[in-house]
Amino acid sequence: MLSYSVHRGNFIAKNRLIRSATLTHYADKEGHFNDKIYETYHDLAMGGVGTIIVEVSLLNNCGAYEHFPRIDSDDRISEYNKLASVIHEGDCLAIAQLNQANYVKNGDELDVDDLSTDDIEQIIKNHADGARRAKEAGFDGVEIHAAHGFLLSRFLNSNYNHRSDKYGEDKNTILGEVFMAIRDVVGYDFAIWIKLDTKNEDCGITGNDCVKTCKYLSDMQIGAIELSCTPAIVGGIKAHENEGYNKEIGMEVMRHVYCPVILVGGIRSLEEAEEDLFDGFEAISLSRPLLCEPDLPGRWLSGDNTQSKCTSCNSCRSNPGHGCILNK
Ligand SMILES: Cc1cc2nc3c(=O)[nH]c(=O)nc-3n(C[C@H](O)[C@H](O)[C@H](O)COP(=O)(O)O)c2cc1C
Ligand code: SF4
Repeated sequence: MLSYSVHRGNFIAKNRLIRSATLTHYADKEGHFNDKIYETYHDLAMGGVGTIIVEVSLLNNCGAYEHFPRIDSDDRISEYNKLASVIHEGDCLAIAQLNQANYVKNGDELDVDDLSTDDIEQIIKNHADGARRAKEAGFDGVEIHAAHGFLLSRFLNSNYNHRSDKYGEDKNTILGEVFMAIRDVVGYDFAIWIKLDTKNEDCGITGNDCVKTCKYLSDMQIGAIELSCTPAIVGGIKAHENEGYNKEIGMEVMRHVYCPVILVGGIRSLEEAEEDLFDGFEAISLSRPLLCEPDLPGRWLSGDNTQSKCTSCNSCRSNPGHGCILNK
């Protein structure tokens, strides 16, 4: 099933393997792209994967995140256009991941409970502006980053969101408003996905919360939900033993939604990927396995079922450049 194409309106992916957003840290301090980034994405696009979710793009200059790409002004559109072209050259679709990592006002970082209604409106507008830039740059869609402890995921987290307004009464409200603001500017021929946590290390987001959020977004007709968790990068994964650590809650999510669900986290073998598709996931997303072997998708699609070489040692998390130690 991995080789089956995906047809969702104008969004036509040649297969069901996705490269999950993976920060390279290759962008310069101001988040501008360079040849190293274009080469990395060229190698990935030529490796057989059907869709690439580009590493996280910040929606504002929040100071704290050096070497993260930024999609926060129109003068970045040409860089993103070049990146989209590199990805399209491999007959691959390009998704930009939008992230309001945090919110800084007058030098102070504000958390969920501190934000005024005007601040929230600014955050929503930042997402719409980022999506418009991605579309103008030739991307095929965007993914809203609402996982991994960043600001939007904190709205969903009962340990951070104690608001008494509509954003606290229903913690999903901000996601709905971000989604609608993006839809208003990009129209219907552009994919809008979201990345969510199935669970969270501080237990502020439970599997049950995740199901409710997914149902809310599915009812709004979100394009797809990619299911992750916090912490996202789990060690000790062994093929055929403990793969797919978001699958159990993902299966529960699929019982409540009608939108496509994408599984990420700890998938290391062709057999597991095929089984996940058989069980109903729309596509399989891989991060570390493609750091190790950008051409793994092509290998699996050609029938070579050798498992991923990734040992889940997690050295790539701390390496400068986030490269795989096996490729040194
Ligand atoms: C080096 C590295 C960088 C990552 N950067 C991002 C990122 O920019 N955005 C994101 O949503 N997840 C990021 N992740 C998490 C992955 O997308 C993925 O959710 C996680 O690694 C689990 O998938 P895997 O088992 O296939 O690696 C990163 C993971 C790694 C290892
Ligand atoms: S450094 Fe370790 S965890 Fe990261 S991609 Fe390589 S083998 Fe996998």
